[in-house]
Amino acid sequence: MPETQLLSGKAVSAAVYSELNSRIAALKEKGLTPGLAVILVGADPASQVYVRSKERRFAKMGLYSETFRFDDDLPESDLIEKIRELNDDHNFHGLLVQLPLSQQISEQKIIETINPEKDVDGFHPVNLGLMTAGVPRFISCTPKGILRILKHYDIETSGKHVVVCGRSNIVGRPISVLLSLKTDYGNAIVTVIHSRTPDLQKYTRQADILIAALGQPEMITGDFIKAGACVIDVGINRVEDAAQEKGYRMVGDVQQSTVMGKASYLTPVPGGVGLMTIAMLVENTVEAAELGLQ
Ligand code: GUN
Repeated sequence: MPETQLLSGKAVSAAVYSELNSRIAALKEKGLTPGLAVILVGADPASQVYVRSKERRFAKMGLYSETFRFDDDLPESDLIEKIRELNDDHNFHGLLVQLPLSQQISEQKIIETINPEKDVDGFHPVNLGLMTAGVPRFISCTPKGILRILKHYDIETSGKHVVVCGRSNIVGRPISVLLSLKTDYGNAIVTVIHSRTPDLQKYTRQADILIAALGQPEMITGDFIKAGACVIDVGINRVEDAAQEKGYRMVGDVQQSTVMGKASYLTPVPGGVGLMTIAMLVENTVEAAELGLQ
């Protein structure tokens, strides 16, 4: 049975943070502390956890961040007004609105209100367009984190068949575009499969690199993969588990027990891609502050 090497988000993010520390110090010498504004609407438990982790990491890096919390009945027009105010606030180089938003608010309208030069999530149509044209400014944090893990562990993408499971605007769509670009992290042959794809395994078994971003707990079992494949698990799912003190545990979209020993590489959950998302958010915020100096 082949050994499966775990790709550690902890190790890769530590390398990112150490490189960022010197860039942050250089900005501070110029009297500039990178700042991030986070808007959180409602009380979605996963969003609350993500936002708290972001706050903690920014504090740890000596950066400025502020979270603006609103009830889930916030009118769309009030949110738009708040974003416009933060667009003009020079303390913040980055601005992100945590998704999902409540029903009465159009996510698209909100994303389009964010100043593209502060859009550290890379969700604004201007930034999506730049990425698609092969000249990215801000790359969305999770796809960027995946690319960084592949680079850190020297996993070749050029000429490889990548199968992306999922087509969300946050992960599946951008990572599929990025990997097909003519760049040193791209040049892959990319297949995107999704909830309307019949016989998922027909495709997943062809993958040299499989990216699981479907949001389905442990759906990708060992039967879905080719021996020796590299498996990137983007899922973060809460499943009930009476044996745990909290009553639940976190699992990915990949069933670790049946993939271990068949894949050549696997990102663990927790400790894989999730840690990279925050590291890339810090990197994008530092980049936004540096852009402001130019
Ligand atoms: N919700 C889940 N992932 C993300 C993300 O990367 N950015 C934002 N703003 N919301 C999210």
